[in-house]
Amino acid sequence: MSELSAVIETRGLTKRYRGGQLAVDRLDLAVPRGSVFGFLGPNGSGKTTTIRMLMGLIEPTSGSARVLGEPMPRAARRVLPRVGALIEGPALYGFLSGRDNLVRFDAADPDADPRTRSARVAAALERVGLTAAAGKRARAYSLGMKQRLGLAAALLQPRELLVLDEPTNGLDPQGMREIRSLVRELAADGTTVFLSSHLLDEIEQVCSHAAVMAQGRLLVQGTVAALASSARGRLAVTTPDTTDAVRVLKEHGVTDLVVADDRVTGDPPVPDGPDAEPLDLADLNAALVAAQVRVRAFGTERASLEDAFVALTGEGFDVG
Ligand SMILES: Nc1ncnc2c1ncn2[C@@H]1O[C@H](COP(=O)(O)OP(=O)(O)OP(=O)(O)O)[C@@H](O)[C@H]1O
Ligand SMILES: [Mg+2]
Repeated sequence: MSELSAVIETRGLTKRYRGGQLAVDRLDLAVPRGSVFGFLGPNGSGKTTTIRMLMGLIEPTSGSARVLGEPMPRAARRVLPRVGALIEGPALYGFLSGRDNLVRFDAADPDADPRTRSARVAAALERVGLTAAAGKRARAYSLGMKQRLGLAAALLQPRELLVLDEPTNGLDPQGMREIRSLVRELAADGTTVFLSSHLLDEIEQVCSHAAVMAQGRLLVQGTVAALASSARGRLAVTTPDTTDAVRVLKEHGVTDLVVADDRVTGDPPVPDGPDAEPLDLADLNAALVAAQVRVRAFGTERASLEDAFVALTGEGFDVG
């Protein structure tokens, strides 16, 4: 990826908190312009800490971060007006209505035009589905409504980049769907969206790219499609001739073979070196047929991001 196209780029970004906790450990992240980038990791893996450093809210212990091509936190004043952010527990005035919170927030923004304020506030409320509740005091909002209000604040101005820390946190399934479709709309308008989540299927549904964190370390980053396909799906053959099928598959390097009724499954062979051609599954099918194995069905089971995560960490998606 060219550096010009990265809207977020970190080099060796590290945060050790005062208590000694190493929250983010030498992170190299590259978020391409125009992507919907999922920042995935279990609780405590360093997502919020990273986002706080990106937004200039805390200083890194070492390493560097560039946002929209500018160094953070040094260029925060120039960068932050171009970025909409929603970070854990948006600060709200409980005694003000949702609408008045947005008005106040917008009034604190020197780049916001007061003449368009009420129209922009109304549009942002509408976008996050809060119009009906806009007059209610924020302290009477549910967690999901507060989350929507925080998102509305990030949407008061057109932004090049949106940084959303767990935007669906506290929302019910319908609310989660609404936020996902909002993220897709914003991305379609050309906004780069960087969002953190601990929900694998959420990332798989909305993101073009993802990075996986565990215990402050980056495990992998890339397109969601590439990450999922890196977890190799199991090969599955349906045949009445399971004994012969197992023999032929074994001869061709298929491992971990399991027979259940008329189905044989196994792991496709791993190419010998980085330059070796992967085995063409068509050749494998031909070999079965040549050995007079009668094949009813032949294919690979689709791998998901969850499979990739389990393959990467050797464990489920639980808190370490
Ligand atoms: N202010 C702080 N002082 C000391 N340690 C902290 C502080 N904030 C976070 N940590 C620790 O740093 C690590 C990373 O925390 P962080 O909040 O960045 O994780 P996260 O991935 O956002 O988790 P979650 O999914 O729960 O939001 C955790 O071990 C946490 O306990
Ligand atoms: Mg967090």
